[in-house]
Amino acid sequence: MKLLITGGAGFIGSAVVRHIIQNTDNHVLNLDKLTYAGNLESLAAIEDSERYTFSQTDICDRAAVDQLLQKFQPDAVMHLAAESHVDRSISGPADFIETNIIGTYQLLEATRQYWNTLSEGKKQAFRFHHISTDEVYGDLEGTEDLFLETTPYAPSSPYSASKASSDHLVRAWYRTYGLPVVITNCSNNYGPYHFPEKLIPLIIQNALVGKALPVYGNGHQIRDWLFVEDHARALYKVVTEATVGETYNIGGHNEQKNIDVVKTICALLEELAPNKPEGVEHYQDLITYVTDRPGHDLRYAIDASKIQKDLGWVPQESFATGLRKTVEWYLSNQKWVARIQSGEYQNWIKQQYQTEKA
Ligand code: NAD
Ligand code: TYD
Repeated sequence: MKLLITGGAGFIGSAVVRHIIQNTDNHVLNLDKLTYAGNLESLAAIEDSERYTFSQTDICDRAAVDQLLQKFQPDAVMHLAAESHVDRSISGPADFIETNIIGTYQLLEATRQYWNTLSEGKKQAFRFHHISTDEVYGDLEGTEDLFLETTPYAPSSPYSASKASSDHLVRAWYRTYGLPVVITNCSNNYGPYHFPEKLIPLIIQNALVGKALPVYGNGHQIRDWLFVEDHARALYKVVTEATVGETYNIGGHNEQKNIDVVKTICALLEELAPNKPEGVEHYQDLITYVTDRPGHDLRYAIDASKIQKDLGWVPQESFATGLRKTVEWYLSNQKWVARIQSGEYQNWIKQQYQTEKA
């Protein structure tokens, strides 16, 4: 197969590209604009493969996307390119509207035009796989209920609203034009190569330099964490095996309160990085409660029984093993982190946490 993957230089996209190049015979074209979140160093392990090509392209650039589709002739598109950080969407929603909504529209139209040129057999086998989030469902107030594929959409943040919007576009292109789509909605991912603006890598990095560990509100919000390589395996199964028009929820069966995640990271660091920064007796002492995120979703939790039943996918990593691997990876890859903590990253941290002295 030839797979065109958008956003392949990001956190999840790079895990998908590495998984496909390392475990299958397929060819990958990685189409990525390389925003602050895109990093080609995350692909160093596979960049020399003859089955891998990269193009620095914006999904909003219709002419460039048309050309790439014509030249590469993919059997499937896996669409991961997006603006992905909720806090950034609150302080500046414009890029989220542009990439997540307009960009998805441009990609759908370019793909539809290309798909119409294919033979009947190739047309039927073709897939447009849209990678989305469980945040489109809004949040759960109870402690027991779970997001199903049929849960009504009720997004809370500009990020989740833009992703919900893109999901609707993808479904409309299926229903109206017959474009063979599949959609996945996944819970919070964690693991290696995660940009240190998101909770888990931010906490690891701040702890290692003795900075405050910012916990929004009371820290009782719940996320359902999935190891990124488990997500990559699920996505490959969906793009190759799922029935056209289906939606799958993907989750880790692993609900954690934010404060517990932060404390578990601190405990792992006590063991794995016992030489603490000057003045730090226990990593936990760095925990600092800061102003809550506006519109903060309380709880996400996924019912992933459909993908288990239909495609036989279950996560291989538990939170204990996955988080340990993640902390170990950050400890061994401080150079990767140092290189992405560039001027733009510093500006973001200053703007987001300025009042909190984080
Ligand atoms: P990320 O922010 O790490 O990476 C996004 C990638 O998209 C980057 O490489 C960036 O350069 C690229 N990109 C951004 N705008 C682009 C544009 N206009 N044209 C081309 N490329 C562009 O994001 P991620 O965490 O890897 O998420 C990937 C996808 O998975 C997103 O669609 C996100 O909504 C979804 N998702 C993420 C999570 C999570 O926990 N991170 C969970 C569920 C779903
Ligand atoms: P995040 O990693 O931004 O993912 P999302 O908002 O998509 O779930 O945040 C995960 C949770 O951690 C979320 O409830 C917000 C919280 N959080 C903090 O408490 N402090 C922080 O500094 C960050 C970045 C997030």
